[in-house]
Amino acid sequence: MTDQSIQSVLNENRVFAPPAPSEVGTDRWLISSLDHYNELYTKSIEQPEQFWGEIAEEFHWFKKWDSVLEWNAPDAKWFSGGQTNVCYNCVDKQVEDGFGDQPAIVWEGEPVDDSGNPVDQRRLTYKELQTEVSKLANVLKSHGIGKGDIVTIYMGMVPELAIAMLACARIGAPHSVIFGGFSAQAIADRVTDASSKMIITCDGSWRRGKVVPLKDNVDEAIKLMEDSGSQPVEHVLCFGRCHNDIKWGALDRCWHESMDNASDDCPCEPMESEDMLFLLYTSGSTGKPKGIVHTTAGYMLHTAMTSKYTFNLIPDQNQVFWCTADCGWITGHSYIVYGILPNRVPTLMFEGGPDYPTASRFWQIVDRHQVTQFYTAPTAIRAFMKWGDEHPESCDLSSLQVLGTVGEPINPEAWMWYRDKIGRGVCPIVDTYWQTETGGHVITPLPGATPTKPGSCTLPMLGIDAAVTDELGNEAKENEGGLMAIRKPWPSMLRGVYGDRQRFIDTYWSTVSKDGKPYYAAGDGARRDEMGNFWIMGRTDDVINVSGHRLGTMEVESALVAHESVVEAAVVGMPHEIKGTGIAAFVTPAPGFEGNDELMQSLREHVAKDIGAIAKPDMIRFTAALPKTRSGKIMRRLLRSIAAGDTEITQDITTLEDLSVVANLAQKDE
Ligand code: PRX
Repeated sequence: MTDQSIQSVLNENRVFAPPAPSEVGTDRWLISSLDHYNELYTKSIEQPEQFWGEIAEEFHWFKKWDSVLEWNAPDAKWFSGGQTNVCYNCVDKQVEDGFGDQPAIVWEGEPVDDSGNPVDQRRLTYKELQTEVSKLANVLKSHGIGKGDIVTIYMGMVPELAIAMLACARIGAPHSVIFGGFSAQAIADRVTDASSKMIITCDGSWRRGKVVPLKDNVDEAIKLMEDSGSQPVEHVLCFGRCHNDIKWGALDRCWHESMDNASDDCPCEPMESEDMLFLLYTSGSTGKPKGIVHTTAGYMLHTAMTSKYTFNLIPDQNQVFWCTADCGWITGHSYIVYGILPNRVPTLMFEGGPDYPTASRFWQIVDRHQVTQFYTAPTAIRAFMKWGDEHPESCDLSSLQVLGTVGEPINPEAWMWYRDKIGRGVCPIVDTYWQTETGGHVITPLPGATPTKPGSCTLPMLGIDAAVTDELGNEAKENEGGLMAIRKPWPSMLRGVYGDRQRFIDTYWSTVSKDGKPYYAAGDGARRDEMGNFWIMGRTDDVINVSGHRLGTMEVESALVAHESVVEAAVVGMPHEIKGTGIAAFVTPAPGFEGNDELMQSLREHVAKDIGAIAKPDMIRFTAALPKTRSGKIMRRLLRSIAAGDTEITQDITTLEDLSVVANLAQKDE
């Protein structure tokens, strides 16, 4: 065992009690002890209708619901008969309640002046947000967008991105936000699948001092769709952010001109509880990314409730909540916009990367805006560790109360560093486990209640009947590995895969317990320790988690084989110091192509163009043939161990290897 892995085991066994509120500078913990949590949890599982009904009372409804839950597995209907609007509860309710002048969104753009101060900063009050959202909602309506029309949003992290999401929610048009790092092809795939009539974009966005040409990518996507014979888009609304030179075409509309002429009077559309709020595409183990469907009332309640308790959000206490994710991912949907705004604590949005212009940027933001809750990914924490302690040490981080992580397992060293160097050795860490499909947190510590162990996401969230089971739904024994399952419906659960009912059933609901009840299968391996804490052991399917972003290995394989030089490709995850999991590709070149550095480079660029830069393989190895079982299946387990360096073949990655030799050795244990 290396010194580091010994340390890791030691850290995993440490238990940290929640601190007293005064130790972190808050006046109270909303859930203040393990007993308090247990009491609420028991109620949430045994009397879900009462538990959720009481939470729902705190929200605005145009019409009260008839029933809290109708469960006809795998279909859940929460708050049937009720009518509400998510935008109303995020924005208008605060104005109606007399808090219109309080900050709703605090924003910092990426560019800085010569002294390192941000050039662009904005604070939007709830009233200002209401005005902007209402105007944009009217602009959308003027272009024929109404209830049920899916709007694609492909923007950088500017307040207008949140405004666009909320404007869609206001008029009942589901949105499909696409992460700004995705390529034209990825946009085309998603827009086509959703038959989206409208795209909202920016001329560009700032990323590490460079402009990402978002509008050019949209133009290219439209061209790709035209070439393929199905192009549903009628309007492209473009917000000017970077003075990037863009071409104006027949479909293009200018955000600024449209907004200047729009009325700010646009009442919220009453929506049925189960109307679709948004679609969000995520990778699965087969085929193209799937559109995960989330609906109105349940998603709203679950994200607001989890935001409140996981992060201890309390209005009027000078809290500032900062989640560093991009709104292109579920984390940004739930914990930048929809879960935070109803809690009346300002949500901070930042446009750029963590190391521009220096590796102190994030800590300067915490210092400048007196951030109280900070929520980021383990990948970022590992990068901060590498960049050196002098960066956090150069800033005042004493405003921080709660630290969160999300997206991938956190290694105990990173957890300890986060607590010591960012959290002053006192801030509780909430390691939140959840998924695009779950909509909000499903397993997480509560900062004032749950004893934490570095590397464990600890206990189920209120309302979540989580368990580790075998394939038949039998609960695993203590410390025995199994599958992560959820046995009862919860409000923010996905309601389907857009346009693909069978995929929804097959992917998530094929586990049926002995008593005939289908369980939600998350696709992760897990175990529960002697304290009942959950430890996530990674995906059980062909999905890999790269820097906290989900990618299907098949997606990357399809991109590779689409290149003329590739006959066959297999992609697996490999350990990566910063990203957690890196991408390893094994490629058989076509006759006449040589597996050299140049080809490796062009394949990496090709994948970036087909999917996005996050999908670029970290390692490509060329092989004369892929190792296969006698029945012709690629031996992925063998490839994973080769990629991890466990099985030595040859040092030179540019030489054509013959992995079938190793396959013969490994044949018997696949
Ligand atoms: O494997 C789990 C991992 O991320 C997957 C979900 O990815 P995505 O839908 O993109 O959502 C990411 C943000 C919620 C899960 O199936 N994952 C997420 N959070 C954790 C995690 N693995 C371990 N610990 C976590 N806290």
